[in-house]
Amino acid sequence: MQGKVVLVTGANGGLGTYVTQAFLDRGATVIGASRKIQQTDFNHPNFVAIRAEISTGQGAQALVDLSVARCGKLDVLAHTVGGFAGGQPVAETDDAVFLSMIDLNLNCVFYILRAAIPVLRQAGSGRIIAIGSRSALEPGAGVGAYSASKAAMVSLIRTAALENKDAGLTANVILPGTMDTPGNRKAMPNADFSKWVRPATVAGLTVWLAGDAGTDVNGAAIPVYGSEA
Ligand SMILES: NC(=O)c1ccc[n+]([C@@H]2O[C@H](COP(=O)([O-])OP(=O)(O)OC[C@H]3O[C@@H](n4cnc5c(N)ncnc54)[C@H](OP(=O)(O)O)[C@@H]3O)[C@@H](O)[C@H]2O)c1
Repeated sequence: MQGKVVLVTGANGGLGTYVTQAFLDRGATVIGASRKIQQTDFNHPNFVAIRAEISTGQGAQALVDLSVARCGKLDVLAHTVGGFAGGQPVAETDDAVFLSMIDLNLNCVFYILRAAIPVLRQAGSGRIIAIGSRSALEPGAGVGAYSASKAAMVSLIRTAALENKDAGLTANVILPGTMDTPGNRKAMPNADFSKWVRPATVAGLTVWLAGDAGTDVNGAAIPVYGSEA
């Protein structure tokens, strides 16, 4: 990853922290973006924090423009922004929950793809890795808004893969099951954490997809379910 510039969205999140550190460990320059990210979140000379709100087209474009202004180019987009809300059946899901899931899990992907793809195409071997969810393929009762938003984002990433292979750009989506994040430990303190997916596994796969070995993998939706599978 030496010489590569990687944009990690959600860099201070439960998973994003691992993804950011994994790219830094392999020598990349990492732009870490989120609404509240701070330069002090990662003590590394190759880390650049940029605060951004990417649920609007303007916010996502500003992030990409600033990234290029700071680092000169973009080789990899690792998009980890996303989140969960729900717990109600479809018939009882209110507008706010449904729209918040679409905003966070679908609109953010659309806006960051639209802004980043023209720059990533210039890289010649650009990479997009996005984090979906097991729920995209396997919806469960009570999580309709979340599952639908993640299913739609998988479709968008696979479309981007088809549309940009002429430029050597690949786009893939990882579908984790429940991960062992601080947020999940807090929300489910009595669960068996050992069955959950280790964020380091997902971070390692992200880095692999971003590297030379990932060249032949394009348009994939990759399950990483841990031992709950
Ligand atoms: N946790 C799980 O078990 C699990 C399972 C399957 C899939 N996933 C998916 O994996 C991804 C990471 O999950 P996580 O648990 O690490 O989530 P998380 O801890 O909640 O992190 C979310 C990140 O996104 C940033 N963010 C949220 N809204 C944003 C916005 N509008 N603009 C810019 N940044 C924004 C947050 O930072 P700021 O607050 O500073 O903006 C934070 O860095 C998500 O896509 C999630 O759906 C998670």
